[in-house]
Amino acid sequence: MEGKQWLLPLLLVLLLVAVSLDLISDHHLQSPLIISEQVRSEAQKQGTPLKANLSSCHPSFPDGDQIGSCCPPAWPVQQIVDFKFPDPSSPIRVRRAAHLVDEEYKAKYKRAVAIMKELPLDHPHNFWRQADLHCIYCTGAYDQVNSIAPFKIHHSWFFFPWHRALLYIHERILGKLIGDDNFALTYWSWDHPDGMHFPTMFTEGVLNNTQRDAINLPKVVDNNYRAEDRGLTDGEQILDNLALMYHQMVSGAKKPELFMGCKFRSGVEGECEGMGTVEESPHNSVHGWVGNRKNPVKQDMGAFHSAGLDPILYSHHPNIDRMWATWQKMRDNELEFDDEEWLDTEFNFYDENLQLVRIRVRDVLDMSKLRYKYEDIGLPWLDARPKPSVPPEIARSILKKRHDHGDVLLMPGETPEAHRLQPADNWRLDKPITARVERPRINRTKKEKEEEEEVLFIYGIDTKKSSFVKFDVFINAVEETVLSPLSREFAGTFARIHDSWRYGMEGKKVKPHLKLGISELLEDLQAEGDDNIWVTLVPRGGTAVNTTVEGMRIEFMK
Ligand code: C2O
Repeated sequence: MEGKQWLLPLLLVLLLVAVSLDLISDHHLQSPLIISEQVRSEAQKQGTPLKANLSSCHPSFPDGDQIGSCCPPAWPVQQIVDFKFPDPSSPIRVRRAAHLVDEEYKAKYKRAVAIMKELPLDHPHNFWRQADLHCIYCTGAYDQVNSIAPFKIHHSWFFFPWHRALLYIHERILGKLIGDDNFALTYWSWDHPDGMHFPTMFTEGVLNNTQRDAINLPKVVDNNYRAEDRGLTDGEQILDNLALMYHQMVSGAKKPELFMGCKFRSGVEGECEGMGTVEESPHNSVHGWVGNRKNPVKQDMGAFHSAGLDPILYSHHPNIDRMWATWQKMRDNELEFDDEEWLDTEFNFYDENLQLVRIRVRDVLDMSKLRYKYEDIGLPWLDARPKPSVPPEIARSILKKRHDHGDVLLMPGETPEAHRLQPADNWRLDKPITARVERPRINRTKKEKEEEEEVLFIYGIDTKKSSFVKFDVFINAVEETVLSPLSREFAGTFARIHDSWRYGMEGKKVKPHLKLGISELLEDLQAEGDDNIWVTLVPRGGTAVNTTVEGMRIEFMK
C-alpha cells in the first residue's frame, strides 16, 4: 500500500490530461441519467455554434417503444480536419432529373450502390452506415459539445445545410467507388409535371426497396399527401401540386425564417421546432407518401431513422436542395442569416477519402463552390398563383354575417379578444377548428409589407405520440371541406412524419410551432383592411385526432 501512494495523483494527472485533450468526454465520467436539471443548465453554453460530441452517441426509439441504435461501431479516433472545397477549375457535376437519365447512367449508379452495399458493415462508406448518418442526426443521437442537449438537424434552420452536406459527401463517395470524379446524383422532380411519378430507376435492382407504399407508388405523387386517398385525377393532382409549390416557394416563403425554419441554438434552452415551408411539405409529405403504410411508422421513408435505407432518399433530397438553390436565386443569393452561430455550426462526415471532416454551414451556402448544379427543366409552378375559391366580397359578407349572428363555432373560453385559447385540450384537431384572430396592424403600405411579413403564428402544437400528422390552414374560408392549395385561402400546412427520438429524452421535446407568411394571400383575398381574419385548421386523414394547439396570433417578421 505504502509504495503505491504515487499512483492516485498520477491517475488524476492522466485523467486531467485526457479530459483536456478531449479524449474523454463528460459522458465517460457521468451517466446522463444522473445529470440533474441544474447541472444540465450549467453544462450548456448558449450562444456558440453547434458541434456534435462524436463520442456521445445515444440509442433512440426508432419504432414506437422499441429501442434501436444507429450509432457507429466505434468512436472516431482520428483528427477532424476542415472541409476543403473542390478545385474551382474542376468540371461542374450536373445532377439530372431522375426521369431523364439514360441507361448508361443508371448502370453506373447501380454499380456504385452495389459496391456500397458490399463494403464491410463497419466501413464508413457502407450503404447502411450512410443510412445511419441520417438516423443519427435526425434522432438527436449525438450530444452537442459542452451540453447534453441533442444535436438534431430537422425542423429548423439546419435542415437545408445539413442535407446539402450529406448529399455532397454521399455523391463524392459514390463517385469514388466507381472511379468517376464527375458522378452526380439525380433529383426526383416532384415539382414538375414530367417528374411527378416515382422515378422508375429507383424501382430497379439495388435501387429498389421493398418497404414502400404499394398503393401510392404507381400514382402521380401527392406533394401535400395527407394519408388519405383524395380520388383526384392525374390532371387535378398535378394542378394541386403546382399550386402547393407556388405557395411554399413564393407566397409563403418571403422571409428566411419562413423558408429555412426556426433558429435552433446551442444548449437545451436553444431548441426550437419550427419547419420552413418546404420541409413541411413537400418534404415531409412526400416522405410519408413513399413510406409503407403497412408498417407501424411508415418505414422506410415515412420515418427519419429509416429513410436512409431507401435509395430514393438520395433523389428526393436533391430536389429539396434544388428548391433551396432556386429560392436562393430568387432572392439574388442574399445571405439567409447573418448569424455566426448558424454559419459556424459544423457537421462531421467521413469524406470520400475516409477523412473525418468538419463541414460548416457557411461551406455549403453556395453550390457553385461545391462544383455541382441542377439540370434546368423549368419551374412551372412559378405561374401557379392560386385564386380565391369564392369572390372575396362575397366571402367577406358571409363571414361577417356569421360573425354578427354569432353562429361560428367559437372554442369554449374564447373571447373575440383572446388570442390564446384555453384550455389547450379544447383545441384538439379531431375535427376542423375555426377561430378569429385579430390583426394588430391593417392597411400597411407596400414598403411596410416588404420590410415585415405578416405572419400567422400557430403555437404549442402537441402531436402527442402520433407518428404521421397533417393539417392544413385556411384563412377566411367559407367552405373549408372542399379547399386545397388550389384555393388562395390556403395559408400553409403542418406535416410531420414519425419523429424517431433519442432514448431518455422523450419528455424534453419542445412543442412545434407553425409560422405562415400571409401578406400576399391577404392582398389576394382583399382582406388587408380587416381587423381580424378567420383561421381554420383542417386535420387530414384522421392523423391529428390526438393533436392539440395552444393558440395563434399575428406577428410581423423582418
Ligand atoms: Cu433528413 Cu428527408 O429527411
